[in-house]
Formats: sequence, C-alpha cells, structure tokens
Amino acid sequence: MAAEERATFGRYGFILAAVGSAIGLGNIWKFPYITYENGGGSFVLVYLAAILLIGFPLLMAEIAIGRRMRKSAVGAYAGIGEKASIGGRKWGLLGGFGVMTGALLLSYYAIIAGWTVFYLGKTIAWSTGGFDVPEGGLGSYFGGFLAQGPTQLLFQGVFMVFTTALVALGVTKGIERFTKAVMPVLGVVLLLLAINSVRAPGFGEAMGFLFHIGPITSNALLEAVGHAFFTLSLGMAAMVTYGSYVGRDQSIPKAGLMIALFDTVIALLACVVMFSIIFGVPEIARAESFGRSATILFTALPEMFYDLPLGSLLAPIFYALVGLAALTSTISLLEVVVSYFVDQKSWPRKKAAMIVGGGVFLLGIPSAMSLGASEFWTNFPVVGSRATGAFSVVDYFVSNWFLPIGGLATAILAGWFIKAEVLKDELELGHGTFKWFKAWQFALRVIAPVAIIWILIQVVGGKAF
Ligand code: PHE
Repeated sequence: MAAEERATFGRYGFILAAVGSAIGLGNIWKFPYITYENGGGSFVLVYLAAILLIGFPLLMAEIAIGRRMRKSAVGAYAGIGEKASIGGRKWGLLGGFGVMTGALLLSYYAIIAGWTVFYLGKTIAWSTGGFDVPEGGLGSYFGGFLAQGPTQLLFQGVFMVFTTALVALGVTKGIERFTKAVMPVLGVVLLLLAINSVRAPGFGEAMGFLFHIGPITSNALLEAVGHAFFTLSLGMAAMVTYGSYVGRDQSIPKAGLMIALFDTVIALLACVVMFSIIFGVPEIARAESFGRSATILFTALPEMFYDLPLGSLLAPIFYALVGLAALTSTISLLEVVVSYFVDQKSWPRKKAAMIVGGGVFLLGIPSAMSLGASEFWTNFPVVGSRATGAFSVVDYFVSNWFLPIGGLATAILAGWFIKAEVLKDELELGHGTFKWFKAWQFALRVIAPVAIIWILIQVVGGKAF
C-alpha cells in the first residue's frame, strides 16, 4: 500500500511530547490535593514506589508495543496480539477500550483545564487592576464560578478548540513543536516558585508534612497506585500511540526513565509550592480560606502571588503555564482517539480531529453542568460514598477502574503472552543490551498484576474510593 509515510518524532521530540502528556493537571492540580488529603509523607512514598515498580515498567511496555507496530491504539494491540500466545488480533479490543477511555477522560479533563484559562484571565485582571479578595473569600468565589453552567461550557469549549487545532496540525508540526516550546519553561517557572517558597511562613511545616512518615490507610494506598497510572498517562494507550511515532534509533528504557523522572519531580515541586501556602494559614482557617482541598490550585494560590515580589507578573505566567501543561496532555488524549480514525478508518486527520473534538465536547456537557449548574447532573447517581454528580462519576470510573484495568491487561499481555524476544528486541533497539530485562519482566508479570488486582478487589469490596 502506498500509504503516506508515518510521522516520526525528532530526537528530543518524543521525550518532550511524552513528558508533556505525562505532566499536566495530574501533577499540578490533583497530586498536591490527594497528598494533602492522604496525610503527606507515607502517601508520597507509596506513590513513588508505584511509579518505580508499576508505572515505569508499564510505560516502557506501552512505548515498545507502539513503536514495534507503528500503529495507533487498536492496530498496535491487534498487531502485537499476533505475536502473543493467546488471543491473536482480538487484543485490538484492548486498544479500543483505550480509545473509549481517552474520550471519556478528555471530556472532563478539558473542563478543569478550562478553569486555568479562566484564572489566567482573572489574574491578568488582578495584576493590572489591583488584587482584591472577592467577597466571601476565594473559596466561595470559585464555588460560584463552578456553578455557572454557560461559563463552564465556554471555557471547556475554548480548551477543546485549542486541543483540536493542535491535533489537526499533526504530530510533528502541532504536537511536537508545541510541547518542545512549553515544557522547559514550565519546569523553570515551577522551580523558581519552589525556591521562592522557602521564604514562605508555611514552608517548614510543609516540608515536615511532605516527609512525615506515619500510618497509612488502605484507601490512600489505592489512591497512590491509581494516580501512578493517571500521572504517567498509562492504561489507555496514550503511550502506545505516541510510541508509534518514535524512531528506531531511540532508547525506550532511557526515554521511559526520563519521562517518569521529570513527571515525578514536577509533581513534588507542585506540592512544595502549594503546601508552603496552605500551611501558612492556621489549621482551623484553612477550609474557610481555601474551600475544599481539591480546589487549592485556584483558591489558595492567587493570594500567595500577590504577596510575592513580582507576583503580579508571575501569577498570569503561572496560570498560562498550567494551562499549557494541561494542553500538552489533552492533545495526547485526543490524539489517541483521532489516530484511531486516521489509521483504521482512513479519515483525513483534520476531519477526524474536528469530528472527534466536537464529539468529546458534547460528551463533557453533563460533567460541566454537574458542578452546581444543573441540579439533575449535580446529583447524578451516587457511586459508593465518593462520587456524586456526573463529573465525579465519570472520573470515578475512568481513574479507578478503566485505567487500572487497561494497565493490568497490558501488563499481562506484555509480561506473559507476547514472546519475550519480541519485547527484548524492541527494548534493546537503539539502546544496546538491556541488563534489566528480567527485572522488568518480573514487574509486569508479578508486581503490577498483584498490585492492580488487589486494588480492584478493594474497590469491589467497597473499601476504597
Ligand atoms: N498524565 C496526565 C496528567 O497527569 C493525564 C493523562 C492521562 C493524559 C492519560 C493522557 C492520558 O495530567
């Protein structure tokens, strides 16, 4: 077939694009607040272990499958299935599951991403017109913003338009070029903010919290492992898809290591910045000042900026960067779905991006309306004790079920069913002898499945989430 040649990332393009996918709201918004809710140090330790023992090996497996087959989700899993001892091309269904999960995840992720755009506008207004804490505090201000349906839809829509445009531009001209420009700046600004936190009154207590090792609940264990998938973009074929654009001269183990490392460092820096602010406020006043901990990025942070030298400059830059970090993640999510239509259904890329982007926007409407705007969607069926409202329900299924299940299936496929030589070959291509192959295989064969199955049993047992 005289198919158009498949795009290939440039030398550092892949690492930056994958780092861009990994680093996003998961690191800057979600990780600090779940760490806060789960008591700090011990949670961080479990999370680090999960990244090292489960996330990192699985990340390499996903990239290897993608590069081997040079196809997006469905084609890659179906093709690698032919090299598996059971299932054959039926493994393509796992790719299909990833495509569906990607669409669902993007449908609500874009809403949170939209908040960063709103706060970019807001901080520009504050920086130029003077900062004044809105009546009732930033917490209730944020709550009011969430409850405005049309505003939510507007910003979600704006974010989907950006995402669609970049994916429509293509892998190298859109995704690669854009992430290369954004990621280094984000790293530097976050580092500067973290250095600045040292002066904050809450810094000492923040560090104590971050490194305090205490008892840990089973709930926290589960959440830490689940977040390892989310933050490394695993379990839904995003890294398989990006892997399909990686050149044969690149080392997958090295790339995987860099991605996991950068992702972790940024998550920890975000905690340092955020906690230095929250712990500057006496405990009893915290909830009142910041509202729920899930919202600290939008409620605690603005105030800090306006206490800092150059804060008026930093505040908008920061929200712009968080928005851009979210954008490098949303494009990877959309790419999983779009590349399916491009590779499997031969749709032109632009058409696929527009139709899928529009579809995902529609899919997200119930979630956008479920933060107080529509009573029906806000009270949408309760799942367990944790998820009420369309937004939470979708997030519950995606984060706690779909990503772990997708990850589990991939770990089993790669660890047990694909001929070991095939993957060994792929991991050594562009790398040289991969000394850790046995350890890597053990992680996929035993550690990941045991940990994930254990999580799922706890979830079914109603213990968690
Ligand atoms: N890793 C991204 C984050 O931490 C979210 C994401 C998940 C992106 C799955 C792509 C695929 O924000």
